[in-house]
Amino acid sequence: MSRPSPEVLAKLTPVLTKRWLTPDAWDIDVYEQLDGYAALRKALKYTPDEVISFMKESGHRGRGGAGFPTGVKWSFVPKEDGKPHYLVVNADEGEPGTCKDLPLMMNDPHSLIEGMIIACWALHSQKAFIYIRGEAVHAARRLRNAVAQAKQRGYLGKNILNSGMDLDIVVHSGAGAYICGEETALLDSLEGFRGQPRLRPPFPAAAGLYAQPTNINNVGTIASVPHIVLGGADWWKSLGSENAAGTMIYSLSGRVKNPGQYECGMGITLRELLELAGGMEDGHDLKFFTPGGSSTPVLTADHQDVPLDFDNVAKAGSILGTTALMIYSDADSPVYCAYRWVKFYAHESCGKCTPCREGNYWLTRLYKRILSGQGTYEDLDTLLDASENINGRAFCALGDGAAACVTSSIQHFKQDYIDLIEGHRRPLLDATDLVGAH
Ligand SMILES: Cc1cc2nc3c(=O)[nH]c(=O)nc-3n(C[C@H](O)[C@H](O)[C@H](O)COP(=O)(O)O)c2cc1C
Ligand code: SF4
Repeated sequence: MSRPSPEVLAKLTPVLTKRWLTPDAWDIDVYEQLDGYAALRKALKYTPDEVISFMKESGHRGRGGAGFPTGVKWSFVPKEDGKPHYLVVNADEGEPGTCKDLPLMMNDPHSLIEGMIIACWALHSQKAFIYIRGEAVHAARRLRNAVAQAKQRGYLGKNILNSGMDLDIVVHSGAGAYICGEETALLDSLEGFRGQPRLRPPFPAAAGLYAQPTNINNVGTIASVPHIVLGGADWWKSLGSENAAGTMIYSLSGRVKNPGQYECGMGITLRELLELAGGMEDGHDLKFFTPGGSSTPVLTADHQDVPLDFDNVAKAGSILGTTALMIYSDADSPVYCAYRWVKFYAHESCGKCTPCREGNYWLTRLYKRILSGQGTYEDLDTLLDASENINGRAFCALGDGAAACVTSSIQHFKQDYIDLIEGHRRPLLDATDLVGAH
């Protein structure tokens, strides 16, 4: 296996992942020996408004996919309104390819708890929730243990570290629906209803959980907070690139020798990440990849040198998303991949709006026809037409994500579709699969 060059190796920047290899770092004793809860003590010396200003100054942006500036989001929660304020951590992590939050919660759960306490100090919140994917029973157990430990040490409960602040954290397991990662569907689910996105306005900062001011952040967003508080805003900015402060956990999967999480400063390229991951699997050449999960338009081998940060990935025609890099080679069919993703969206569509509920059903059927060798040129046009009718017309971004995988794969790999339509490539699905959409 080829070794990364010293220059590329130096790009590994473990911050959120720095405790992952320490045995039992999930335990509060070990966590405290490794700077644990020092950031909380520091933050409590500042007023909530000062903490919010500091977060704005750090340039930190959300790690849940949209990259919204965290300090700005916190400042939307009204002050002194006499209402309960809630912090909700989005630990649903359902985006295909995404696997950064789960290892973080398993290996370093107290960094999330500590980040939540600091956020609640800034938000004047006395109750916080972690909404975790139902299948992640092991991580929910670990979080509940961490919450109990933190309470025992006086980091949660009444009058935390004599600051006058009270806080309880509830770990709530969802039931495993991708749509419940969408923040307003998550709130419905947390309230005990069927998880479906809410109409905005009102935005959650004004009327979220139980119609009270609520701030929702991703696990990685919040777990970064203690590091930023201890390291300082300038240090955090220095780790990343322009408009993209700090580090990011890049998750590589697919045709790479060493799939896994690689934490680097924002703006590293895929070429460098592949070098860190030992390169492509033997006998495979890079053909296409997702920069941030299946909802982000695919990019090609020509985009290997695009700095993987918010602005540069957008310039290249995609979205940084959750930095879930699914890597495909010339042995993989972009048509088949798009089909599998669309099938996922059809299955996970909550059914609330017609473009997504019906559109994904029809997209799946069209893909089945093309992949079983029975497609026509007209089907190709219909795929684009149906995607156009989903993108921007669906009620939430799940629809946009579905349309993006179709349009981007046709944009970059139209010939692969034509080869299937013209019979130059053997069908990838059996004609019997044509029955039904799923
Ligand atoms: C269909 C769908 C699924 C989503 N799933 C997740 C998820 O699993 N985790 C997450 O943090 N954000 C997810 N999001 C984004 C959230 O709605 C929200 O933007 C995010 O939690 C905000 O956190 P941040 O500001 O810390 O990035 C999803 C969005 C959509 C449309
Ligand atoms: S886009 Fe899909 S998931 Fe989102 S509200 Fe509409 S039907 Fe539900």
